[in-house]
Amino acid sequence: MTAEEWVPHDGGMRKLRARLPDCRGCELWEDAERAVAGEGPVRAEMMLVGETPGDHEDKEGHVFVGPAGHLLDKALVEAGIDRSKVYLTNAVKHFRFEREGKRRIHKTPSAGQITACHPWLTRELEIVKPSLVVVMGAVAAKALLGSKFRVTQDRGKRLELPGGQTAVATVHPSAVVRSQEFRRDFGRFVDDLRVAVKLLD
Ligand code: URA
Ligand code: SF4
Repeated sequence: MTAEEWVPHDGGMRKLRARLPDCRGCELWEDAERAVAGEGPVRAEMMLVGETPGDHEDKEGHVFVGPAGHLLDKALVEAGIDRSKVYLTNAVKHFRFEREGKRRIHKTPSAGQITACHPWLTRELEIVKPSLVVVMGAVAAKALLGSKFRVTQDRGKRLELPGGQTAVATVHPSAVVRSQEFRRDFGRFVDDLRVAVKLLD
C-alpha cells in the first residue's frame, strides 16, 4: 500500500491539494467522507503534524476543527503561536473509524496505513520547507521519527528529522482532551510548544 502514484512530484501546494481526493493509496478512502488536506501558509516556518482527521474534520473537510482542534487552539494561544501563521496537517489524510450504532469511533491508523500515506507528508515538507516541525503524538512520531521513538521519553527536546528539519515531539492534543490530569497535561503540552517557539528564534 502506498500513495506514491497519486502524489505529484512537481508543482506546488495547489496541485498537491487538487490530487489528494483521488488517492487510493490505502483502503481508508472507502469509508471516510473525504481526504482532509493540510492547511496554512505555504511558507510557514512551523509545521504541526497530527494523526488523522477525526469525525468533525471528516465531515467539515478541515484539519483540527473538533475537540482536539479546540484544545490545540487554546494551547497555541498560551504558547504565543498564531494559528494562522502555522501549517497544520496530519500523518494520515483519511479518517479511520469503527461504527458503533450511529457513532463513528476513531481508530488509530495501522503501521501500513501510516507508511502508505507518508508520500503526502513528505511532499508537504518539501513544499513548505518548515524550519521547525512539531510532531504531535505517536502516529506522527511513527511517520516522521520511526517506530522506536517514544514520545513520552523524548518530548519537548530538540530533535532532527531524517530529512534534516529541526523538530520537537509532544503528545497529541486529543490525549490531553482525555487526560485525567488535565491541568498538568495541558501545561506540559504548552511547555513543549514553547520549546518549539524558542527553537525558531
Ligand atoms: N486529530 C488529528 O490528529 N487531526 C485532526 O485534524 C483532528 C484531530
Ligand atoms: Fe491515500 Fe492516505 Fe487516504 Fe490512504 S489515508 S487513501 S494513503 S490519502
